Amino acid sequence: MDWDAFLTPYKQAVEELKVKFKGTREQYQKTSLHTPIEFVTGRVKPVSSILNKAARKQIPLEQLADKMQDLAGVRIVTQFVEDIDKVIELMRARSDFEIISERDYIQKKKPSGYRSYHLILRYPVQMIEGEKKVLVELQIRTLSMNFWATIEHSLRYKYSGEIPEDINMRLQRAAEAAFWLDEEMSIIRDEVQEAQRIITAKQQQSR
Ligand code: GTP
Ligand code: MG
Repeated sequence: MDWDAFLTPYKQAVEELKVKFKGTREQYQKTSLHTPIEFVTGRVKPVSSILNKAARKQIPLEQLADKMQDLAGVRIVTQFVEDIDKVIELMRARSDFEIISERDYIQKKKPSGYRSYHLILRYPVQMIEGEKKVLVELQIRTLSMNFWATIEHSLRYKYSGEIPEDINMRLQRAAEAAFWLDEEMSIIRDEVQEAQRIITAKQQQSR
C-alpha cells in the first residue's frame, strides 16, 4: 500500500480546512463580535494508528476511505459551550463541503465522560487527476472539554485502553469538574466577552 499517495488528499483537506477556519477567526477579530473560534488544529491519522484501528474494527484496507471517517481530523476549540452552537451554524451554512452526519456527545456524553460535537464532512480536494471527495471528522468542543479529552487520551494510550480503576475514578471526577467549569464560564460569559471586546479594540487601535 502506497500510504503517501493514499493520504495525500487527506493531508490537503486538513491543511485547507485549517486555513479556512482560521480565516473565519480572523474575520471575527476584525469585528466587534466575540469570536466563537478560539483555535483550530488538525492532523492526518498516523499510519500506525490507522493499522491499529483497522485491525480493532476489522476494516479491510480497501475500505478505509469509506469506513474510517477520521483519517483526516480537524478540531475547532471554543471558549464557551454556547460558541459550539454558533460554530455548528457556521458549518451548516457553508457550501464548500457537505455534512454527512452529526454526533452530539454534549447533550449525551460518552460513558468515559467524553464531551464534544462531531461532524463528518465530505470535502472536495482538487487533485491532478481531478476532484476527489474525502471524509473529514470535525470535532467541536470547548477549551475545558479539550483539556479533559487530551488528558484522558494520553492516559488511555499509556494504559492501552485499560485505565486502572482509581485513575478512572479521578477522570470521572475531572470530567465533572470540566463540565462545571463550562457552566460557571457560561454564567459570566457576558462579562468576559465585554472585557475581551475592549482588549481587542485596543489592540486594533495600536496597530
Ligand atoms: P473511534 O472512537 O475513533 O474508534 O470511532 P467511533 O466510530 O466510535 O467514533 P466516535 O465518535 O466514538 O469517536 C471519534 C473520535 O472522537 C475518536 O477518534 C476520538 O478522537 C474522539 N473520542 C471519542 N470518544 C472518546 C473518549 O472517550 N475519550 C477521548 N479522549 N476521545 C474520544
Ligand atoms: Mg469511539
